Amino acid sequence: MHVGIIMDGNGRWATRRGLARLIGHKRGAQQVKTIVKSCPPLGVDTLTLYAFSTENWKRAAHEVEGLMKLFRGYLSNNLVELHEKNVCVRFLGDPSPLAPDILDLMENLSSLTKNNTGLNLNVAINYGGRDELVRATKSIAAKVKRGEIEAAEITEQTISDHLDTKTQDDPDLIIRTAGEMRLSNFMTWQSAYSEFAFLEQSWPDFSPEVFEKALQNYHARTRQFGAVIAK
Ligand code: FPP
Repeated sequence: MHVGIIMDGNGRWATRRGLARLIGHKRGAQQVKTIVKSCPPLGVDTLTLYAFSTENWKRAAHEVEGLMKLFRGYLSNNLVELHEKNVCVRFLGDPSPLAPDILDLMENLSSLTKNNTGLNLNVAINYGGRDELVRATKSIAAKVKRGEIEAAEITEQTISDHLDTKTQDDPDLIIRTAGEMRLSNFMTWQSAYSEFAFLEQSWPDFSPEVFEKALQNYHARTRQFGAVIAK
């Protein structure tokens, strides 16, 4: 099962406690560790986390820098443990505007873990669903131009295969924390048939118990993918 999570509410979590927003993000990064560990026993084989959107650059410079510092810390401090736990880490999004040292850490982690067969962990950094579709379209158009594919042969599968998620299955469930009910440019193409769970808890309060409840709720639903299932 593939679960996508929009980790929202770190800032509000901190502000409510009279703390700086970055303290909320720090707690959020700790929560990422806890939730990644909880996936295998909960039956989640692919987890996609929305860590930084193409729109998040518009935040105050010190918040963007603080988030980048957290990514650096996460990517370097968790390399050994993620590998030992057999996690295969991939990154979604356009890496080009990220700092060279962050790109190196991303490359180290994804190449070290690429043959791991446990949890598939996708971390979306500088990710936007529309931007992903633009990049996929450019790459398909280039192949058409080179004569590698015929325009008339483009199918939904062709588009899926050119997205950052490539051959991975679409998310079965997308969870957003902290009460907002929108997708905010997350997995625009891949979410066509996803189920949604909009939860009140802020990301720093999203515990494995809350995760398990959301999964139980999902399993109680019937998914028909547009068809009518005889009762
Ligand atoms: C949304 O909360 C959260 C983010 C933009 C950042 C998510 C990042 C982390 C959880 C930390 C690090 C992640 C990894 C993968 C190590 P918000 O700031 O929009 O909260 P608000 O809506 O309450 O202001």
